[in-house]
Amino acid sequence: MFQSDLLQDKRILITGGGTGLGKAMGKRCLELGARLLICGRREAVLEETRAEFDAEHPGRTTVLPCDLRDAEAVEAMAEAAFAEGPLDALVNNAAGNFLAKTESLSPRAVDAVLAIVLHGTAYATLACGKRWLAARHPGNVLSIVTTYAWTGSPFVVPSAMAKAGVLAMTRSLAVEWGRQGIRLNAIAPGPFPTKGAWDRLVPNAELDAAWKNKIPLGRVGEHIELANLAAYLLAEQSGYITGEVVTIDGGEWLKGAGQFSLMEALSDEDWEAMRARKG
Ligand code: HXC
Ligand code: NAP
Repeated sequence: MFQSDLLQDKRILITGGGTGLGKAMGKRCLELGARLLICGRREAVLEETRAEFDAEHPGRTTVLPCDLRDAEAVEAMAEAAFAEGPLDALVNNAAGNFLAKTESLSPRAVDAVLAIVLHGTAYATLACGKRWLAARHPGNVLSIVTTYAWTGSPFVVPSAMAKAGVLAMTRSLAVEWGRQGIRLNAIAPGPFPTKGAWDRLVPNAELDAAWKNKIPLGRVGEHIELANLAAYLLAEQSGYITGEVVTIDGGEWLKGAGQFSLMEALSDEDWEAMRARKG
């Protein structure tokens, strides 16, 4: 889909890059020539991913264990990341989420999600942004949000609040830092099965199947589809796009929003009967 040097020697930091969609994006960035830095809390998971990546692209992945909820730790990570030269891009992908009735949430439960998604994303973006500004180096921030960042969603309320905040940050800083050559964009994925998300958000096989029925294109997303979109937004070739959120969800959220979407339950006979009605 792309020329093989699309991201040649770009230094890209992906938070939560050891698992799931972060890992898929990292793999694609490496294939397109990038140098990768991955962070997460679990060093063993990051090392396992690095070993997998090294088998194909030796020596091009750096592991930076970091808990994004800790602003000092994020500063230390950014210091280490920029020590060998400026980063070119930050992918805010790390997240925490779980399904719960909102009235059951304790303050710690609310904080658990907001601290990772909203605060961690802000810390990482500021740590990179201020270094880019000081060095007059261009920068690129890509944040992975969700479609309920703008629709809201029951049962994942702290996540919806946090993702909405990340989208507001994206649009705000795209304007504030645009003149300095820093772009910020977001991707809003629909369902892309990963262990992290499915263990926490899909309670049983019936709901997994029900999910597919609400997607106009009739299937969940493939990781490579999201990884290719990320690669495009990380590449210089998308250089005039900033402050944008690109949805990749097979039409899922629009179907939920459209007032007459439920009419897909009508049979051909029902449609004929509707047409035959007068008045
Ligand atoms: C109610 C819960 C809960 C649940 C945890 N808590 N799970 N409350 N229902 N299911 C409460 C705990 O009781 C505790 O409060 C507080 O939250 C903190 O819990 P810990 O386990 O101590 O938190 P921590 O170890 O910090 O873990 C954070 C986490 C966890 C968010 C809870 O799930 C995590 O580490 N997630 C990272 C990966 C992840 O979530 N990936 C999925 C992203 S998918 P008390 O008061 O009892 O102490 C995604 C996709 C969206 O965002 C769209 C999909 C289509
Ligand atoms: P995942 O595999 O669980 O990814 C979450 C990652 O975040 C993990 O690698 C985790 O590593 C890291 N992380 C969590 N807390 C952290 C912290 N405090 N500090 C540093 N790293 C932390 O889930 P995923 O499905 O790939 O999700 C990736 C992104 O896509 C998330 O932003 C999610 O909201 C978004 N998304 C996913 C879907 C989907 O269908 N999968 C849909 C919409 C949006 P550690 O646990 O080791 O820290």
